[in-house]
Amino acid sequence: MSIRARQSGLTLDPTRSGVTFDMSDSSFLEIKDLHVSVEGKEVLKGVSLTVRQGEIHALLGPNGAGKSTLGYAIMGHPKYEIVSGEVLLDGKNLLEMEADERSRQGLFLAFQYPISIPGVTVANFLRAALNARRTEGKISPMEFRKLLTGKMSQLGIDRSFAGRYLNEGFSGGEKKRAEILQLATLEPKIAILDETDSGLDIDAMRIVADGVNQLLGPEMGILVITHYQRFLNYIKPDFVHILLDGKIVVRGGAELAEELDVKGYEWVRDQYGEKEAVSG
Ligand SMILES: Nc1ncnc2c1ncn2[C@@H]1O[C@H](COP(=O)(O)OP(=O)(O)O)[C@@H](O)[C@H]1O
Ligand SMILES: [Mg+2]
Repeated sequence: MSIRARQSGLTLDPTRSGVTFDMSDSSFLEIKDLHVSVEGKEVLKGVSLTVRQGEIHALLGPNGAGKSTLGYAIMGHPKYEIVSGEVLLDGKNLLEMEADERSRQGLFLAFQYPISIPGVTVANFLRAALNARRTEGKISPMEFRKLLTGKMSQLGIDRSFAGRYLNEGFSGGEKKRAEILQLATLEPKIAILDETDSGLDIDAMRIVADGVNQLLGPEMGILVITHYQRFLNYIKPDFVHILLDGKIVVRGGAELAEELDVKGYEWVRDQYGEKEAVSG
């Protein structure tokens, strides 16, 4: 358990610290025994995972394990068929909701391959995204400026960035910057970030990690999906889950990622490949 998680009052083992916490008003995403098929093939074979506000979880696994499938399934991508299982946010069934409703409930899903929108600036896109999910009416242009400027300076993003057309001609790193700025502006309760296995160079990885570290706190729960245990040198997870062939086969803390870094996925396959999935 990291210091940060402890400070947020969200330890999963309250008895250890001798203090009990009131967790009733913290949000949580629950994935329960999720089975997902893609084009008739079962890719996820019973995945269970709970992410609370204030916690950082990492989902690791070799290529083809089904990591992105989990992200797409939660996002409601039509190609990913939910065969059985549940995805709940604070007990509410997310799978029945439209994507915009999922967002209004406080879920953020980063686009793995962000689209570019020529003619729409980063600032306008963010304002529209924010307004779409606000229940308390539209944010005034002045208020939005203030919010955006504040977030950009917090993240160390140059002001001129807001005036550029979204993702048009953006480098990989700039796309990541836009994604993190979106995360900062929307202030979701739970964010799922799927870091592509290809095309994410070390600089882009750093941008995401630095951004996430800036935004961490008791209000934000994050599930980072990644192939690279290296990513976790920059973001310290409280919980690590390893997905293998559509099942989570081992769970642990940050030390599990370190062990994986040393021993590699072959070790996981040898050790856990034939065993039953561990329950969540
Ligand atoms: N859109 C798709 N069409 C066909 N097969 C897919 C699709 N998405 C995923 N799969 C298959 O599902 C399995 C898991 O893929 P994926 O979730 O992308 O794994 P990971 O993100 O862990 O590398 C792979 O065998 C892949 O070929
Ligand atoms: Mg993937």
